[in-house]
Amino acid sequence: MSTQAKRILVLGGTVYLSRTIARLAAERGHRVTVAARGSSGEPPAGTEFIAIDRSFEGGVEPLRDKEFDAVFDVARIPAHIGPVLDVLADKAPYWSFISTISVYANFEKLSDELLEPTAPDSTDPAVEAYGASKVACENLVRERLGDRALVTRPGLIVGAGDPNDRLGYWPLRMAEGGEILAPAPRERPVQWIDVEDYANWLLDAAESGATGTMDAIGEPVGFGDFLDGIADSLIAQGVITERPNLTWVPQEFLLEQEVAPWAGPGSLGFWVPTPDYDGFQTRPGAQAVAAGFRPSPLQVTVERWWKANAEAPQLKAGMTRKREGELLAAFHGTEPDPDLDRLDGERTFTVPKPPADEN
Ligand SMILES: NC(=O)c1ccc[n+]([C@@H]2O[C@H](COP(=O)([O-])OP(=O)(O)OC[C@H]3O[C@@H](n4cnc5c(N)ncnc54)[C@H](OP(=O)(O)O)[C@@H]3O)[C@@H](O)[C@H]2O)c1
Repeated sequence: MSTQAKRILVLGGTVYLSRTIARLAAERGHRVTVAARGSSGEPPAGTEFIAIDRSFEGGVEPLRDKEFDAVFDVARIPAHIGPVLDVLADKAPYWSFISTISVYANFEKLSDELLEPTAPDSTDPAVEAYGASKVACENLVRERLGDRALVTRPGLIVGAGDPNDRLGYWPLRMAEGGEILAPAPRERPVQWIDVEDYANWLLDAAESGATGTMDAIGEPVGFGDFLDGIADSLIAQGVITERPNLTWVPQEFLLEQEVAPWAGPGSLGFWVPTPDYDGFQTRPGAQAVAAGFRPSPLQVTVERWWKANAEAPQLKAGMTRKREGELLAAFHGTEPDPDLDRLDGERTFTVPKPPADEN
């Protein structure tokens, strides 16, 4: 696909990554079609919407007579792949499939060994089947498209429109101030990919015809530098004026206190324990960079996230202030501040806004 305006199909396109691909493709002047049920959100402005439902036989028939120069797909269910390949693969010069680093079998060490794929007609939506399902999806795409396919495997996707806000816990917590629990050591690596950088890279790849299979992730960064970068962004935006007061607590203490890693209620977003996940946040980012990926500085990603999400975050990760205060008190061997009761239950963020631009 050259850089001239092309016919692009985004399978998905109503939420987060696939919506960002569709939005940026339209902004680049391509003719963009978004095909989904429409239940996750609105397609972006300037795109054509075609209603399909991949969960039943015949649900993708509305695409049968269409032709596209490039197709992007984010599907997670192997049974959703075959029918779209049947109606479009032979006519599509380029296919970009979004997979995941969860396809790798071993997170304890860096390894490219893959999980055993599920059956190609599996419809299992269970989170436990996610990685194996994506292996099956990848295989179906590669078998049918061969060297016309790009398969990218992203790690944690963060940024504007994130429906999980695993990154978001940290800037919001810093904005609240006070003593902040952080998972030692500062050197523990973390990785992410900014949703907008990723979408732009996928579009560049489609425009230049880049194919193959590769990870889609930035280089690992120490947790300390990660939190410092978030603070730098908040200070630059005028959200906070002082550097956050971080207390680095060792992993043994966090595990003893049953702090959940990675994601979900009560977790510390991004944190994964060693040695079980030593290969999880250390994927080499160089492959993506060599293929044209240009990561934005963390400060830019945080700024994009803050502007888009901070007012109404969709926090599915992070702990309450009360729980954090109790953990810090236990760590210091002191009594928890009785005032923490006031912060019990739901988070009630008052999101400080950056000062109005004076110009
Ligand atoms: N978020 C992360 O950190 C992360 C990390 C690694 C990999 N990934 C991968 O990155 C991709 C993220 O994609 P995304 O952000 O666009 O979110 P998503 O939640 O994967 O989006 C799924 C899209 O497919 C559509 N869809 C779902 N079921 C459908 C059906 N039965 N028929 C037709 N359309 C259907 C949805 O639209 P409707 O509901 O409107 O139909 C939606 O637009 C996924 O491939 C995921 O596996 C994500």
